[in-house]
This record gives sequence, structure tokens and C-alpha cells, in this order.
Amino acid sequence: MAHKDDNSEQIRSSDYLTRRGFLASSGGLASLGLTALSHPGTPVRAKTPEAGVAGPPFNSIRDWVAALDAHGLLLRIPEVDQDAYHATGFFYEMIDRFTWWGAPALLFDRVKIGGKWVEGPLLANLQGHMSTDAIIWGLEVTGDYKVDFRRARNYMREVYKDNNHRWPTIPPSVIDSRASACKQVVLRGSDIDLRRFPFVQTNPGDGGRYVNSGSVVTQDAAGRINLGTYRCQIKGPRKIALNPETTQTGYRMITEARDRGAKSYPVAVVVGQDPLVFMISSTKLSGFPRPGAQTLDELSLAGGLRGEPLEVVKCETNDMLVPAHAEMIIEGEVLFDEPLEPEGPFGEMYGYLGPRDPEKFWMHVTAVTHREKPWITNMFTGMERGMVAAPFYTLIEHELKVRFPYLVEYYQPTDTMGITYLAIKKTKAGQGLEIGKAVARTDPMAKITVVLDDDVDLLNQQDILRAIVARWQPHPATHILEDGRGIIIDPSQRAPRKTSKIAIDATRQFPEEGGPAVFAANSRDLFNELQPEAIGEAEELYGELLSKWVES
Ligand SMILES: Cc1cc2nc3c(=O)[nH]c(=O)nc-3n(C[C@H](O)[C@H](O)[C@H](O)COP(=O)(O)O)c2cc1C
Repeated sequence: MAHKDDNSEQIRSSDYLTRRGFLASSGGLASLGLTALSHPGTPVRAKTPEAGVAGPPFNSIRDWVAALDAHGLLLRIPEVDQDAYHATGFFYEMIDRFTWWGAPALLFDRVKIGGKWVEGPLLANLQGHMSTDAIIWGLEVTGDYKVDFRRARNYMREVYKDNNHRWPTIPPSVIDSRASACKQVVLRGSDIDLRRFPFVQTNPGDGGRYVNSGSVVTQDAAGRINLGTYRCQIKGPRKIALNPETTQTGYRMITEARDRGAKSYPVAVVVGQDPLVFMISSTKLSGFPRPGAQTLDELSLAGGLRGEPLEVVKCETNDMLVPAHAEMIIEGEVLFDEPLEPEGPFGEMYGYLGPRDPEKFWMHVTAVTHREKPWITNMFTGMERGMVAAPFYTLIEHELKVRFPYLVEYYQPTDTMGITYLAIKKTKAGQGLEIGKAVARTDPMAKITVVLDDDVDLLNQQDILRAIVARWQPHPATHILEDGRGIIIDPSQRAPRKTSKIAIDATRQFPEEGGPAVFAANSRDLFNELQPEAIGEAEELYGELLSKWVES
């Protein structure tokens, strides 16, 4: 298969800063020597990328970045001083202007770390913009990220349904090392020093520099390979601490090997994965690891979603298979006779410092293979959404719909982790709390579950809050779960992974639920019903006035 991953030069030769009309408009940014968009908004070009730019399936991160650029979603910055945390400062400024959902991907050509300029590129926010959900499947991109995201969700619902509510799978194809981009350079032993690559410390409060967006590859006794995105702290030139939570598949595979009496356990970390591999590794799209449940092989799942096999290659120092066109593979082993190592703290998804764990598995690095000039990624955790979300939402939505057919939409926004929204078409009294309680009980991320009528836009927090204040009565439309399962990074919990929970039924209450005999009409709905032409007419009459006001 021909590889379309030769876009690096194309990226290098483009003059992004002038071509996209980026202007240094903020004193703060300009003083960092950085350049920013001059106005807020969503800089997505509503057009199909020009010929020559790879479309899906994306074989490499380079193809993906080229596609983002073709959609006007890449901002290139020549250099950044991360000793002064300018990349992180820039990220905060960027999301303040454009929001998590509307901010572009970033490419820093070189990064100052530990007083030295380290050649990159360092990439970030590669799946943060919501339109990336459409781009990854080659769907039309409109320039309105909500429209694009909804289109992607509908597309995924169709794909899943057409496949009898399973994900398609195609087994990976093993290729030769010589054809594998990730083997262009092979380092072993004392030639390896992970600190020479632009892996950064993201926050001044973090425990150190991290490989924080790699896929940790593990394999169980039956030969099943798992990919999990777990943060990995660089502890030395050939040493990284691994942070799979105790509930994760990677953790289970490592501990099973230890409990079988193994002395060591092979692990690999894939850096600079293609976008689908990253998404699969970052979610439980292959299925929830419940007792008795069958989960899909993740390399085959990647093939199924690509529509063609994922090309993989054998590691140098163990038998595991890894994506052949990744930027870098860090190979190593967990040595069970060695004492565990502290890991963290680390600025986490909640926007608070995740705890330091005194005892984590760590990996002794045995080989690093990489492309020439590898592209390194960093996740600005707690400042970006992380990965395309439509596939995973589709899976959860379907699982819930089987039990609660009145569910219309499921949404768990990553910018406000801990809250889950469910839109339902309520047909019977009690359904709001019925589904709300079920989600609160089973999902550790659902500390707050809000059930809404299906006329509420789940992508619009103001719409949601207006529905809550107008339709919800705390008593009796609330259920409190005193002792639920939470996640370690929630800073409010009283004991690790223990949390109380709340389910809020913010649907219009029926009279038999204690609601009014007739629920008051929503003013805007009533307006549209009684004066259906008025908004359009006003737009025609005064739209220009509004545009002029924005421009002035
Ligand atoms: C950037 C990023 C970093 C993550 N870091 C961790 C981590 O350090 N530990 C963890 O247990 N899960 C982490 N996650 C969540 C897991 O990747 C996710 O739960 C995934 O499904 C785990 O894979 P598994 O189900 O194969 O174990 C992270 C996710 C992302 C996107």
C-alpha cells in the first residue's frame, strides 16, 4: 500500500503566519514572540482540502496534521521557551479566545527545555477542535464546529447501526521493519536518552517531563494486545513511570503477569500515532472490560474503522506488534523485582493537580525506534478535549438506549469533567430519574447526571442551565447516591475513587410527578409559533447593522 505520509516538507514550506493572516494582536502574546489570530471565531475553512492532501484513513500523524492545515486548523509557531512555560501560557490564552472546541492545533518547531533549544516539532491540540470529529471521517466541514460535530455523531450512529451495533474489525497486517517509518532510527542501550526529545513539563506544578499522549502497549497471556493512553513520567534517560489506573486494561495485564510469577513484563509506548489509533487508545471504544464481556482487539478495531488493515511491525526487543507508521516506539520492560517508583503530581483533566502516587510500575527502556526528526506530541491536559468523541459517545448512547429506549442523546463534555447530560423523549412519569440513577450508579465519571428534555441543546451549557432553573424542582426530582465509584483525579472526593453522586431530572415534570397541570410555554418557542416570520424578517431588515457593529 502506498503511504501518503510525506507531507512534512509541505508543512515546512508553508508560510502559515502570513498566509492565514495571523496578526500579533495581543501585547501578552507579542511579548512572547508569538503570533495569534486577530479575532475570535472558528478559523475552519468550509471546503474540501485541496488535491494532494491525504484524506481518511490517515496513515500517520503527518497526514493528519496536513489535513488539519488544509482546513485552516493548524497554527505554526517557530519556537517556544517552555522553561518559561510559554507553550502552556499560550495554550491558556488560546482557549480563552477560541474555547476548547474552537481552538486550532499547534505546531512548535523547536522548544527550549532545560536551557537548550530542542528541535521538534512539538504538536498539541490535534483533536481538540470539534470539527476534527468530521475531518477524521472525511465528512463535509462547514465552519461551524457544532454542526460538524453533530454530523459526525449522526455518521457514527449510522456506521454502528449498519454494522448491527458492533464496530467493524479488520485484522492488522504485519509489515517488514524496512518498510516501517517508525524504524528509520533504532537506538539501544546507552544511545537512548529520552530527555533529548522535546517531551515537556506542561505545568510548573507537575512532577517532571512527561510522555503524556503515548499509547502504552501491553499484551495478555492469550496474546491479546491492548493500547491505553496513560501518562508516563520521564524519570531518567531510560526510565519512565507508568500511570494506568487500577481499573485500566493495561494495569490488569501487568498485574496478571506479576501474579503469574513473571520476573519482567514487556511494554511499548507509541508516540505520534495516527489519529484513529490515538482515539482508540484513549477510550473504551473496544468495549468495557466487564466480567464476561467480550472486548475487541484494538489493532483490528483500528483496521475496521480505517476500512483497511492497520500496518504494524514487531518491536525490536519483544514480540509485540506496534503501528508501523508512528513517529516513535519506546520499548521496555517492567522489572517486577525492582521497587515501585513515585509518579506525579500532574495537572489533570479536572483542571486541578492530580495526586502523586508513591508506588507506580515503571519501565526500563530497552530500545527506542523513531522516524528521522520525529514529531512529538504533548497533551495540555485540563485545557483541551483530547480526542474525537463521536465514536465513543455512539457506543455509550447505544448501550443506554437498549435499556432506556427513550434516550435521544448522550453527552459528557470534557471541559467540565464529572457532569453528564442525557436528553430524553419522556413518555412516562419517572423516566428522568430512572435513567439518571442508572448512569450515576455505573459511570465513575458521572458525579452529576442531568436529564433533560430533547428540545435542549446539549452542546450549549446556557441552554442546559436555563432548562435546569426553569424545569427542575430539587425535591422530588433529585436522587443522591451517597457512596459511588469516582475517579482518582476528582479533587473533591473524600477517599480515593469514592464519591457521592447526584442525578437531576430537569425534564418538564408531568402532573403525576408533581409538576404543574399545564407547563408554561417557553417564550421563544411561543414566539416562533405565533410570529414564525419575525426573526427572519428582522435579520433581513437589520442584519447588516449587526454585522457592522461586530466589525466596528
Ligand atoms: C491524554 C490522555 C491521558 C490519559 N492519561 C491516563 C492516565 O495517566 N491513566 C489512566 O488510567 N488513564 C488515562 N487516560 C484515560 C485512558 O486512556 C482511557 O481510559 C483508556 O480507555 C484506557 O485504555 P484501556 O481501556 O485499554 O485501559 C488518559 C487519556 C488521555 C486522552
